[in-house]
Formats: sequence, C-alpha cells, structure tokens
Amino acid sequence: MVSRVIPVKTFDLVIFGGTGDLARRKILPGLFRRFCAGQMPPDAAVVGAARSDMDSASYRDFVGEAVREFGGEETKADGKLAAFLERLHYVPIDARGEAGWRELAALMRAGTVHAFYFSVAPSLFGDLAERLNQHGLTDEDSRIVVEKPFGRDLASAKELNRDLAAFFDESQIYRIDHYLGKETVQNLMAVRFGNMLFEPLWNSQYVDHIQITVAETVGVGGRGEYYDKSGAMRDMVQNHLMQLLCLIAMEPPSQFNPDAVRDEKLKVIRALDDVEPHHIVRGQYDAGDEGPSFREEVGDARSRTESYIAMKVGVSNWRWAGTPFYLRTGKRLKARCSEIVVVFKALNHSIFGEQEDHRNVLSIRLQPDEGMTLGVTIKEPGPGGMRLIDVPLDMSFAEALGENGDQTDAYERLIMDVIRGNQTLFMRGDEVEAAWAWTDPIIDGWDTRGDVPKIYDSGSEGPVDAVQLLARDTRVWRKVAS
Ligand code: BG6
Repeated sequence: MVSRVIPVKTFDLVIFGGTGDLARRKILPGLFRRFCAGQMPPDAAVVGAARSDMDSASYRDFVGEAVREFGGEETKADGKLAAFLERLHYVPIDARGEAGWRELAALMRAGTVHAFYFSVAPSLFGDLAERLNQHGLTDEDSRIVVEKPFGRDLASAKELNRDLAAFFDESQIYRIDHYLGKETVQNLMAVRFGNMLFEPLWNSQYVDHIQITVAETVGVGGRGEYYDKSGAMRDMVQNHLMQLLCLIAMEPPSQFNPDAVRDEKLKVIRALDDVEPHHIVRGQYDAGDEGPSFREEVGDARSRTESYIAMKVGVSNWRWAGTPFYLRTGKRLKARCSEIVVVFKALNHSIFGEQEDHRNVLSIRLQPDEGMTLGVTIKEPGPGGMRLIDVPLDMSFAEALGENGDQTDAYERLIMDVIRGNQTLFMRGDEVEAAWAWTDPIIDGWDTRGDVPKIYDSGSEGPVDAVQLLARDTRVWRKVAS
C-alpha cells in the first residue's frame, strides 16, 4: 500500500533564492516528487525569484537539471518532469530595490494560496517582508516560510521576529526546522502518545537517563565560512537537538494542534537548567583519510569553533528532575546515525539473586535504518539455574511497513503543510527565542574563557572527554552503529 496523498488547494509559491543550493537540492526536487504523487494541483504555480538575470525558459532548464540530479526515480518517468517544469516561472528580483516586483505581482493569481519561501540570508528577511507588503502581494491568507539560521543569538532572533511581525501575523510565519519534517521525528510523538505502554514509565521515577545522538560522517565541506561562525551549538543543538529533546520530554498536549504542541515544547525549553561548563565537551576534527582538518576547511588555522559537542542537560520540572539528558552531535564521525536512547532504571529488587545490571533500553533510530529496539531481559536458555540475558525486540520500519514505509523527504512534507496552513511542525517565535536564551550564556562563557575545542580524529567517535562526561556519572554512551 502506498502512503495516502491528500491533495492541497491550488497555490502560487514564490521561492526567493530560487537559484540557491537549498532550492536546487531540496525545495524544487521535493515539489517535483509531490507533483508526481498527485498532491500538487494541476494549476499550481512555482515562481523562482533571485538576483540572476534569466528568463523562465532558462530557469526551467536549471530546475530540470536539479530535479534530474536530486529528484529520485520519478524523473525517469515519461513526461512527468516536462509537465512539472511547465508550472514554473522566473522573475529576476532585487530584494532591496524596485526591480522585479511589478512582474512578480503580475504572476500572482487571485483566489489561490500565496506562499513565499525566504530561502535567502536572514539579513534579507525584513526587506522581503516589507517589499511584499508595499507591492500589495500579501493578504491575511498569505504565508511566509523562513529557513534557519533564525538569528545567531537572542538579540538577533528578536530583531528578525520583530521585522517579520511588522508585516505578518505569527499565524502566517512558518519557521522551518527540517528535523520536524522527518517521518521518524514525528514518530516520536506517535510512539509516546499513541501507545499505552510507554507513557506511564516516561518520567524520572523509571528513566535513568536519555541519550540523543546526531552523528554525521560529512565535514563542513564548502560551508566553511558559515559554519566557522556558527559551530555545532548554533548549527545543530539550538534547533535540531533541542527539538528532539522537546518531543521526548514534553507533556502530552491536550490535542495534536499547532499551539497545543508548541506550548508544551516551549515549557520544556524554559525548564532547561543552565549548563555547567564542565558538563560540555567541544571538539574539532583533525585531518584524516576522510579529508582535510576542520581548520583547513574553514580556512582559519586558529579557529576555535566546535564541529562536535557533547553535553549533559537537566530538565527541572516535575517529570524529569534528576534524569539527565546527554546530547551529542558532530561532523566527520565514524558513522552517520541519529538515535534517541531511553535507558530505564535497574530493578528495585531482583528475585533471581545476584545478577549483572540488567535494564530495559528503548532505542529509537531516526536515521538511517529507521526503527525501534526494546532491550528486554529474559532467561538465558539451557539448564543450570536462572541466568538472565538481555535481548533486543527489534523493529525496522522498512521491514515492518514494507511499501507503506514513507520515503517523503522532510522538505516536501513541510512545504505541503505550509500550503495546508498547518503550523504544528514549525517553530513559533517564542520557542526560537527561548532556545536562544538558553544557548547564549553557554556560547558567551566559551568566548569569555577563551575555550578551545579538543581535536579528535576524523572517522572516530569524537573526543575521549565525551566518554568521561558519562563515565563520571557511571554511565556509557551507546555505541554508534557503523
Ligand atoms: C542542517 C545543518 O540544518 O542539518 C547541517 O546546517 C547538517 O550542518 C544538517 O549537516 C543535517 O541534516 P540531516 O537531515 O542530514 O540529518
């Protein structure tokens, strides 16, 4: 069975930065796949808008190439790509000047959903919002989509929120964190709130600690300039890992609706403890078979930016006080693996006498090889007494769901949610600000103290100090699958 496709209302989607990397790799190929799935109405239109001086015909060539490269199998199907490209237009535009705005206005049709994707530097968000308003391109049903990074600290995030709020209501602003569009990330909510089994145990009385790992094998590559100013804390922790933590830690919302979900996430962020400097390990990868060192890639031999971070985080609320969350993420590590591990407490009393420490461990694999494993304790087969062993109840979503497993990319799902007007999987302004309010003092502390990240080998599991971070609490990281 193939996943259910619910058609959306017809729309005019304008992609500012329509020739950029994100548009080429994710947004346009994603739209093409939704088109092939029959979700895009036949008269929906996509307008690329950017500085480059080209016409719609050459934009279609550009998009055709991008879709052939990143669009997947369907690009080979007869006629589909050509039919999709017919939906495209291009307008050369100046975000800060007058050029192009009248032409863009002429393309927007009355009675359709108007969505504007700001796939541009955040410094242009305010200008674009203002121009859209000035040229009468928006009404109360229009939406704008903004990409991360949403600010680089609390002050800049507040400024961006203010710039957008001058022209748009919060209900029209869709702040993307693509992790929320991942099938398996949404599954965290289904697992927690769709089963009777887990929720009664989901608290500090039964859970010893939680590990959240997002490990990547890639380095910073061509993004050195951006990344050297961000580091893993701003690039991954403040948004993606924070969102994962929220979904794992939040209280059950009363309903699955945008504000109910986001209210609960916000409460988690506000309950995060300040992080002690010795509860954080920062690392930077060295050169290896996989490529040059971080410092070579960013072009700064003295860079103090981290490409790896591990930290112990406390959530001070009734449910979680006393149960630490250990987060880690990094580039150029041994394996690509995103996983959440819930380690339950040991039994209060064992009727089987002296045994090794046996605990239930629930692992939720987000990528790759999405699935869940629950470690259960059973009797070791054979005579000779009651010896216990731990075995996995293992479920791979691909095996369990077969063709029903959904391969929809995060971006295609999120874009369609924008058109549908569903903000559940998008970050609200106050959520982003709260995340920065927690992150800022940590980063400021490094700057003030002049902290230098530890160097780790490319292709390793990161700095050894991260192992010690858990060892001090007599705990160990789960092995990252290789
Ligand atoms: C992006 C970060 O937001 O997420 C990148 O800027 C990172 O540095 C990427 O590589 C990871 O996303 P995914 O979907 O590959 O896990």
